[in-house]
Amino acid sequence: MKTVAIAMQKGGVGKSTLAKALGVAGVRAGLNVLVLDMDSQQSTTQWAERRKDALPVVRFATEIDLPKLLSQAEGAGCDLVVIDTPPARSTEAPAAVEYCDLVLVPCAPDIEAYEQLPRTARLARASDKPAAAVLTMAQPNSRAEEDIARQVFETVKLRMVPAVIHRFKVHRDASREGVTACELEPEGKAAAELQALWDWVGAELQLNTSAVLHKMA
Ligand SMILES: Nc1ncnc2c1ncn2[C@@H]1O[C@H](COP(=O)(O)OP(=O)(O)OP(=O)(O)O)[C@@H](O)[C@H]1O
Ligand SMILES: [Mg+2]
Repeated sequence: MKTVAIAMQKGGVGKSTLAKALGVAGVRAGLNVLVLDMDSQQSTTQWAERRKDALPVVRFATEIDLPKLLSQAEGAGCDLVVIDTPPARSTEAPAAVEYCDLVLVPCAPDIEAYEQLPRTARLARASDKPAAAVLTMAQPNSRAEEDIARQVFETVKLRMVPAVIHRFKVHRDASREGVTACELEPEGKAAAELQALWDWVGAELQLNTSAVLHKMA
């Protein structure tokens, strides 16, 4: 079982959007996926309630039940756990980082997000876990924000995920419908970007999706 924690102290940068997208992508790749919602706002849990599909399984978790939930998931044959964490300084994000195999740090191209980034980068570095920043909500059809983000991520010693997530309305529309951009507009640019992110995460975590599909066949 592999666990990815999605953490960034700045609010509204796309943490939950990426957690939901990776959860759905994992299910579509034939994996048993659990999404843990550690945010007391529970917006990912509410998204799952709006969703018609029962998968991925989404559960609310606190830092107190996290170790037990993870060992239960492993015992139940879970392949991938995606942990969505709250914004601001929290006890949940450090717990998620402690128990994960990969920390994904979504960051929007705003000064407010860049100012918060060092704290989250420090948290990831202190854990010694592999970590990478992903640029989210970037302006479509422009590389300027990407170039600045690359420099900012370098400054805080975070690798940059090659997949960039641009600002597209379909993410909001999908959230309202309890789906992801990949499900709402499978042929769209937003879906292609999420797929690229999934491919990168799968390779990073060495998720052997073809073996799982073979096992299911
Ligand atoms: N790439 C994007 N383009 C456009 N809208 C987006 C994108 N990513 C997320 N959104 C929208 O922005 C809002 C905030 O996103 P999301 O809830 O994923 O952020 P968050 O980091 O989890 O926020 P919080 O810190 O409050 O938990 C949501 O309405 C979501 O649909
Ligand atoms: Mg969130």
